[in-house]
Order: sequence, then C-alpha cells, then structure tokens
Amino acid sequence: MTTTPHLVSADYPYARPRRNRRDDFSRRLVREHSLSVDDLIYPVFVAEGQKLQQPVGSMPGVVRHSLDTLLPVAESCLELGIPVLALFPVIDPSLKTPEGTEAANPDGLIPRVVSALKARYPELGIMTDVALDPYTSHGQDGYIDENGYVVNDYTVELLSRQALVQAQAGVDIVAPSDMMDGRIGAIRAVLEDQGHVHTRIMAYSAKYASAFYGPFRDAVGSAANLGKSNKLVYQMDPGNIDEALREVAADLREGADMVMVKPGMPYLDVLRRVKDAFRVPTYAYQVSGEYAMIKAAAANGWLDHDKVMMESLLGFKRAGADGILTYFAPDAARLLRAQR
Ligand code: PBG
Repeated sequence: MTTTPHLVSADYPYARPRRNRRDDFSRRLVREHSLSVDDLIYPVFVAEGQKLQQPVGSMPGVVRHSLDTLLPVAESCLELGIPVLALFPVIDPSLKTPEGTEAANPDGLIPRVVSALKARYPELGIMTDVALDPYTSHGQDGYIDENGYVVNDYTVELLSRQALVQAQAGVDIVAPSDMMDGRIGAIRAVLEDQGHVHTRIMAYSAKYASAFYGPFRDAVGSAANLGKSNKLVYQMDPGNIDEALREVAADLREGADMVMVKPGMPYLDVLRRVKDAFRVPTYAYQVSGEYAMIKAAAANGWLDHDKVMMESLLGFKRAGADGILTYFAPDAARLLRAQR
C-alpha cells in the first residue's frame, strides 16, 4: 500500500478537508450559511367570496383563498414564525378595465384584506404588490397607448395612488413589481406627503421578462388577458446584469428600503452582484415557475421534494439573499422546526 497518492495538493495530508465533513456535529460547526424561518416571505392569492380554496392547476399545493380561509393561513404563519405574508389579488373580470383603476379603489379587495389581517394579527408583517396587471383588461402592468405600448409616467401616477390606498389600509410593505421608471421615487413622495413615513418599500428592482411567471399568471387570471403579448418593453432583458445594478442604484436613491431580484434560481449571479455592490437588504423571489418545476419533478418521483426545496432555498442564502419570497414558505418553516 502506497502512502503517497500521485495526485495530491502540497498541503496533503496535513490538510484533509474531509475531516470536518466526517460527522454531523462538525458539519454543523463549519457550516457557512443556513436558512432560518426569519428568511421567509409567503406569497398568497386572495379573491372575493367565501370558503374559497380553489386549487391553481399549475401550482400544486397552492390555492386561491377568500378572506375567511386566509385568516387561518395568517395565523399559522405567526405560529410558525414566518415574518411576512405577501398578498396577490385575483380580480373579478368584470372589474378589469384598460386603466386598471380598481387597483386604487380604497374599498377594493386588497385594502379590505389588508385591514382585516392587520386588525386580527397586528404583529404579522403584510406586504402588497404594486402593479396593475391583475386589474387591467389587457393584462399589462400599466396603462397602454393606442399602439399597445405601456406608457410610463401616467402609469406611475396610477401606481402611486394604488400604493397610497394600500398604505392607508395599513400595509407594512409595498412592493412595486411593475418596472416603470421613477416609480419608487413617486411612491415614496406620496407616502411621505400623506404621513405614511413608516411604510417600507421593497422594490422589485431587477425584475426580468421571464417565462417563469407563467403559473402566477394562471393563478391571478391575467394570462388570458395578456394573451400572446409580452412584457419586454419594461421588464429586464435576461441577458443583462450591469443594468440590474443601475436599476438597484436608482431604486435606492429614490427611497427603497429593500430591493429584490426576480426570478430566483436562474438569477443567483445577479443576486450576488447586487448584494456585493450595495450591501442593503436584498431579497430573491423563487417564482411560480420555479415552484412548479420542483413540484412536477417531485410528483413524478424524480426528485426528493423536501431535500430539493431546502437546497434551493439555501442556495439563495449562499448567493447573498437576506430573505426569499417562496410558495414553499410554510413547508420549509415546518421542516426547519422539525429539524430543531
Ligand atoms: C405582477 C407580478 C408578477 C409576479 C409577481 N408580481 C407577474 C408578472 O410580472 O407577469 C410573478 C410571481 C411569480 O411568478 O411567482 N407584476
């Protein structure tokens, strides 16, 4: 038996990286990154009605809730320790218009759900999406001109009204997901002007024009409105990364408290660059299509659901995320608790 393998590093055998990997205690001791329940934001879909728990076909395990069935979900978030619930509306088609003005209706679905949740569970963080796509008859995130082009500045006015109504309902975090230019500054100005100085803004700063949003558009029902159109004239080109840094810089100057990269897994490089460049609270959105991929493979027995879920979430932490929006939030929280 030879004592000197012929391909060794100069450090071997003094350095044996496998020593630390040998036992669970030392693997835990040297672990650099970990996932905690404090990292999780749970996105949920809410619609009008009662006793609603309507499955979303392309997102196994995800349902559209009415307020009454959402309340127990909020309670279980609190109980599990999930810090924030993110609300996405399913709007009745009869309320959709070219301008999406229902988005700024103070008596609309989202403001009512926000105030009910904050009244019942004041310590649970509530976040709302600021964008017009669930409300527009054409499914775009803003107002379109006669050529179908999404008009920036007028859309920003509508978004500012939407964000104000959400703040007035008591939301903790508004999250503009529309990618219009200047919307963070405009929303921040309106919030300050109206005395909502504590409302945090989580900016979807680097949001790419991604095919991974497909199942979400089924869930909120905007897929049918959007048809064959795309969002390339405002969401970012998947080939770009310097541009993501400029978007983040602008949103921070305009008053964002937190920034986001979206989608998640295919954009971990962007996440790392953003975190290194700005050192601010940075979030990733593991979007509907990423969730659907894992669910589909697990349902076929091709992947281990829980292991892949946890590995994918840990990947975000390693890439620099301070937190993750994920449809897996309750599952992950339960597993984290069981592992304690
Ligand atoms: C709305 C919005 C979208 C998502 C979050 N907010 C869809 C889109 O931009 O078309 C996608 C989330 C997901 O896929 O899970 N602007």
